[in-house]
Amino acid sequence: MNYYHHIKLLSYLFFIVFIITSCKHKEDEYHNITDKIEAESKNYHGTSISSEKYIGNVKTIEVTENGQTFLIPERKEQIKSFACTECHTQPLHKMQSKDATKKAHWNIKVNHADSNTMDCTTCHNGDNPDNLKSLTGNSIDFNNSYKLCSQCHQKQYKDWTGGAHGKRIGGWAPPRTSMTCVNCHNPHSPSFHSKWPARFNTQKIKERK
Ligand code: HEC
Ligand code: HEC
Ligand code: HEC
Ligand code: HEC
Repeated sequence: MNYYHHIKLLSYLFFIVFIITSCKHKEDEYHNITDKIEAESKNYHGTSISSEKYIGNVKTIEVTENGQTFLIPERKEQIKSFACTECHTQPLHKMQSKDATKKAHWNIKVNHADSNTMDCTTCHNGDNPDNLKSLTGNSIDFNNSYKLCSQCHQKQYKDWTGGAHGKRIGGWAPPRTSMTCVNCHNPHSPSFHSKWPARFNTQKIKERK
């Protein structure tokens, strides 16, 4: 036998010894990680860790979407001009003035889809502004405004229900609390614009010293 045969035999031997010992070893009751996860999750009743204290004072509501149940921040208390019906005591067409310089919501401009696709009443109900409105005319609560967005942005909506789009409040421990679309996107002007750093650094070399 030559030198290489010895090496080969030896490594076979080591391999067999390794298999035997690794299966006998107490910590390795399971042959692979999938077996271990399956077996240990049978007796798993959740974790005692909670991210509740990090959610702090954020008032939340529970939603079930796409098979997932989680919390999102409540909105209606955050909307300054809610309840709309404090002023909107009549249907919209009766309140609208012809004078374009005296618009009540002069500060709101739709910079979203183009004006053929979207105007105020695509999302707001002129007869009952306290609720949003679906494309087919159904009422959507302001707290569930993601339902409005999901009509046209299914991909982001599905990613959001799975936790891939958007952000968690608190942490990864339960209860899952996710920001809702309007926490990040202004519905009237939803895209983000690129911006310069607050201070333009012309002194790089100096700062690095
Ligand atoms: C302080 C009073 C006030 C409150 C509060 C208020 N509105 Fe209005 N809103 C008005 C008036 C007045 C008009 C009519 C303005 C015009 O077209 O001249 C109006 C018009 C509108 C229009 C039509 C705008 C246009 O350009 O045609 C929409 C949509 C609207 N309101 C939605 C809302 C919603 C939704 C809320 C609640 C979140 C709300 N408003 C709260 C006073 C108010
Ligand atoms: C793409 C849908 C959409 C369109 C179009 C739209 N809105 Fe809104 N608007 C919303 C949603 C959603 C909210 C609630 C946002 C939140 O939770 O803060 C809102 C909030 C408001 C509010 C309350 C804002 C506050 O902070 O007090 C007013 C007033 C309003 N909209 C008026 C208008 C007017 C007037 C137009 C047309 C010029 C318009 N909206 C167009 C979806 C829309
Ligand atoms: C009636 C359909 C419709 C509704 C409802 C709607 N959107 Fe849009 N949205 C569009 C269209 C059309 C565009 C422009 C085309 C594009 O960029 O995808 C757009 C653009 C956007 C963009 C910018 C996309 C980019 O590439 O920069 C964001 C972000 C967005 N919408 C978020 C929202 C949110 C949040 C809501 C709910 C408050 C919402 N949209 C409701 C149709 C809609
Ligand atoms: C935690 C903040 C956050 C939340 C919550 C959020 N988004 Fe976004 N969204 C973003 C950011 C950041 C981008 C990327 C913008 C960019 O690349 O310019 C984005 C991009 C988008 C775009 C543009 C296309 C794309 O994927 O780049 C759409 C449409 C959109 N979001 C819709 C939604 C809808 C609908 C919801 C709710 C179901 C939602 N977003 C929730 C932060 C958020």
